[in-house]
Amino acid sequence: MITQNKILLAGMVIVGIAYVYQPANAETASAAVLANTCYSCHGTNGKSVGDMPTIAGKTKNFIVDKLKAFKSGAKSSTVMMRITKGFSDSELDAISGIIANK
Ligand code: HEC
Repeated sequence: MITQNKILLAGMVIVGIAYVYQPANAETASAAVLANTCYSCHGTNGKSVGDMPTIAGKTKNFIVDKLKAFKSGAKSSTVMMRITKGFSDSELDAISGIIANK
């Protein structure tokens, strides 16, 4: 009986680990999708060819600091405040991580 419970417990732990890993992958995928919304203005993968600032290749801290400053209004903007208000802070964090690695 005790052995059976241990096997059951081990099984639950494995299922638990699998469950924890799955949302992490889904979150990365959705962050990439969210980051796609930035490229219409900032150029493909954040590399601008026009007047728009290039955002690719900046550090994650640089990007996330700017985004949070736009969102709070600490940094004035034409469109970025409206855009950043549509995202939670953790989404801005995830998006910044994607773009920093482009
Ligand atoms: C509608 C066009 C548009 C979209 C979409 C857009 N941006 Fe911007 N972005 C701008 C403009 C314009 C600026 C300059 C500040 C302003 O006037 O809003 C800017 C500025 C920035 C800056 C500051 C760059 C610097 O060097 O100071 C960052 C970082 C940034 N955007 C990131 C993003 C991210 C991340 C997304 C996607 C969630 C995004 N932007 C979507 C137009 C856009």
